[in-house]
Amino acid sequence: MEGVEYRAWDPRRSKLGAMVLKKFEIPLKKDSRVLYLGAATGTTVSHVSDIVSEGAVYAVEFSARSMRDFLGLADRRKNIHPILADAGRPESYAHLVGPVDVIFQDVAQPNQAEIAAKNAGLFLKKDGLLMLSIKARSIDTAASPKQVFKNEVKKLEEAFEPKFEILNARELAPYHEDHLGLIAKIKGSE
Ligand SMILES: C[S@@+](CC[C@H](N)C(=O)[O-])C[C@H]1O[C@@H](n2cnc3c(N)ncnc32)[C@H](O)[C@@H]1O
Repeated sequence: MEGVEYRAWDPRRSKLGAMVLKKFEIPLKKDSRVLYLGAATGTTVSHVSDIVSEGAVYAVEFSARSMRDFLGLADRRKNIHPILADAGRPESYAHLVGPVDVIFQDVAQPNQAEIAAKNAGLFLKKDGLLMLSIKARSIDTAASPKQVFKNEVKKLEEAFEPKFEILNARELAPYHEDHLGLIAKIKGSE
């Protein structure tokens, strides 16, 4: 179609792209406000930015090297707000981010359940959703991925405040081996 730009989206380079192909119901709307944790150089953030064309993406990354590449992209798109910070210390960017509809987290860290809870506690709206990618090997290289996923789900459900209720969870293979994608809401919320 004339005047329309089509962009390739590689599910092997994007957990969100893999979640689309694994038939998750993706809760992103054109006016959604999204907190994206683990922006890297912005591959997936650029697709989120396309979808939430009238919303905003607050994109947190703690690697200065990745952020440098990401800034070029962020400069060209008005709805991307790059934040160089540690997602484990959300109070450090609380003055930049208001309430959000969705937290998308892809940080591949052993303490990712705690990171998700801290950010949800500060920013996720009552009816908001967490989208999370869990990489088994970044948590435990000895245990089986299935066991790691089970433990991480339990942590999300019980270990921190707020606690989450898992709405959907599926492995992201063959696009990402030993990764689990999940969508959750704050327990007790609508
Ligand atoms: C798997 S990559 C993310 C890929 C990206 N989501 C994409 O699809 O284009 C994980 C990223 O999270 C970042 N990261 C890990 N821990 C972090 C933390 N505590 N705070 C902010 N960024 C973090 C890493 O530097 C890395 O760039």
